[in-house]
This record gives sequence, structure tokens and C-alpha cells, in this order.
Amino acid sequence: MSDPAARPSLGITALGMYVPDRVVPNAEFEARMETNADWIESRTGIRERRFAAPEQFTSDVGVMAVRNMLERDPQALQGVDAIICATVSPDALMPSTAALIGMQVGLTGAAAFDLSTACSGFVYGLSVAQGLIMSGAARRVLVVGAEALSKIVDQDDRNTAILFGDGAGAAVVGPVPAGYGFQEFVMGADGNGGSSLYLRCVAPTLPGGFDMGHSVGMNGREVFKFAVRVLGESGAQVLAKSGLTSADVDWVIPHQANVRIIEAAMERFGLPMERAVVNLDRYGNTSSATVPMALDEAVQDGRVQDGQQLLLIAFGGGLSWVAGTMKWWDGAPSLKPTPHAGVSA
Ligand code: ACO
Repeated sequence: MSDPAARPSLGITALGMYVPDRVVPNAEFEARMETNADWIESRTGIRERRFAAPEQFTSDVGVMAVRNMLERDPQALQGVDAIICATVSPDALMPSTAALIGMQVGLTGAAAFDLSTACSGFVYGLSVAQGLIMSGAARRVLVVGAEALSKIVDQDDRNTAILFGDGAGAAVVGPVPAGYGFQEFVMGADGNGGSSLYLRCVAPTLPGGFDMGHSVGMNGREVFKFAVRVLGESGAQVLAKSGLTSADVDWVIPHQANVRIIEAAMERFGLPMERAVVNLDRYGNTSSATVPMALDEAVQDGRVQDGQQLLLIAFGGGLSWVAGTMKWWDGAPSLKPTPHAGVSA
């Protein structure tokens, strides 16, 4: 990529999040399938997750996250002329969920498109937003990670149903003062791992004939091994690219899939678990929404502070991976600690 010194300082200038009201504790699955609450908690770290209401879809959840941002900072969307929605559970393939969100938050006319790299989507989106601004195609970009996964997961499949929840996080990417904001990103994907995590759309099979069935399919053990490897590798790569070591990192904001995956990644970085932001116990895996939701909660409760070094890391379907470094800037209203105004109880 270009010379870092020649790049404009770009970073997050606003944040918001939303989770639906309905809390689904592990015990709820015991009635439906052969599982138990303790197994789920001990194997994943998840205690409960949120499910969207029957009439609530991904664009609705995403809009709520943007509204939460606007409650905290009414000027947050000023100058936004592009919207990226990272999602694997879009309302439709067309129109894009990004366009539907834009329509409802007063951004009609802004460029809008969805980004499909599953759980890596939000951090991928930050990098794409940075590129759009650096190329002159956009001034500020709204990046939303939003999911209504409960609608696309087979609620009778114990391999997947217990893991996923619904929620959204939203961020605006724009200019920040020199010395703050994004440093480097590392992104990748390997379609050879497609059969480890998939959701059918048009073709019934993957190239080579792998039958995708009809709902989200996953080889949990394969994804687990892949996740531990790529989080360690991409995290190390992005730190080296940024001229940093893990000792410089104040907070790791990881994708929230399984606490054992996060523990293994932190061990690889040589960092204690206390430096990872973890909220999957309350929300499960909300795919592209996990990173912005974890970041927002850590900003809201005062853990992430001005000038601190962050490492954002995620992996997902594709298979895909992404890691990003940024120096946190808290100079806008929604980036300072406040009571959990937008997080429904
Ligand atoms: N309840 C009770 N038992 C279960 C359940 C369940 N819900 N699910 C599986 N089991 C059983 C299995 O059948 C197996 O039984 P067996 O030993 O008789 O064969 C046993 O528990 C152990 O199964 P494993 O698959 O080895 O369990 P593991 O410890 O690997 O945990 C899990 C499974 C939680 C799915 C784990 O592999 C994992 O988290 N993988 C990563 C998944 C992930 O991150 N997915 C999201 C990717 S992000 C995205 O892009 C969407």
C-alpha cells in the first residue's frame, strides 16, 4: 500500500450499536434439541444471545444502530456520501441492505453497497471506506455491520443454532487528527475453505460439487482450527506492517465466535485475556456486527481511551480473515464514555 506518511489521517468519527430486545438464554435450546446450557457455555463461552422480532430484518437492526449513533451525536452523518453494509443475512440480494439503511437514515443519494465476507465484513469495510476516501470517491463513509442471523440459521441444528445471534454496529469513517486513526490493514480469503462455512444462494453446490443444503452449514472443528491460525498470523502481520509489537497493543477487539478461539489467539500474541474485549457471553456470534459492538461497548464503558493502540481481528466465511491497527481518537461525542444509552436491557 501507499507510503503511510503520505496518507491522510482517517479513522472512526462516530459509533453506535443495537441489539434486539428478545434475550435467548442457552436453556431455551434444551427443549428443542439434544444439548444443554452448560455444554454450550463451556464449549463456546456463550450464555445468551438476542433474536430479532419476527418483523425485524437486517436493515431494521442496522437502522437502529445508526439511530443510536445519531442520539449520541446528531451531526454524525454530516458529509457521509457512501454506505457500506457488511452482512451475511441481507434483507434481499437487491436492493442492497446498505441502500435500505440509507433510505431510512436520511442518506438517500449516497453510494450504497453490501460487502460479503461474513464475520470479517466490518473490518474489511473499514479498509474499503479508507480506500474510497483516499481515492477521492467519498468524503465520509458509513460502515454498518448488521445481522439477523436467527432468520437464516436452522434453529433445529445444534451445530449452528446455539452459536449465532442478531445485532448491529455502525461507524462513520472520516478525517481524524494527525497521529490518530487507521494504521494498517491485512486482508485475505481462501475459497478452498468454502465448504467449512456456507449458505446457499443461487447454485446448489460449490465448485467441485459440494452440496450446500438449505441453511447455514458449518464444519465447526475446521473453522476453529482455521480461526486460531489466521488470527495469530494476520495479527502478527498487521503489527509488523505497522511497526508495532503485541506489547504496544492496549486492546484487542476480536471477532466474537468462541471464547476458546479468542483465548488461543491471545496466547499466540503473548497477551493476557484482560486485554481482549469479550462480550460474546451476552450476544453470541453476530457475525459482521461483533467487532463494532465490542468496540462500542468498550468505548462506552471507558475501557478504550484516547490515544490507545487497538488491534481489530476477525475471520469468517469465505474463508476470510482481516486484521487492522488503529490509534483510538475520542474527539467526537459518540466516542466518549456514556451510560449504555443505546443498548437495550
Ligand atoms: N450440544 C451438545 N453437544 C454437541 C453440540 C451441542 N450444541 N454440538 C456438538 N456437540 C457434540 C458433537 O456431536 C461431538 O460429539 P461426539 O464427540 O460424540 O462426536 C461433541 O459435542 C464435540 O464436538 P466438537 O465439534 O468437537 O465440539 P467443539 O469443542 O469443536 O465445539 C463448536 C463445537 C462450538 C462449534 C466449535 O468447534 C467452534 O466454535 N468452532 C468454530 C465455529 C465458528 O467460529 N463459527 C463461526 C465462524 S464466523 C462466520 O463467518 C459466520
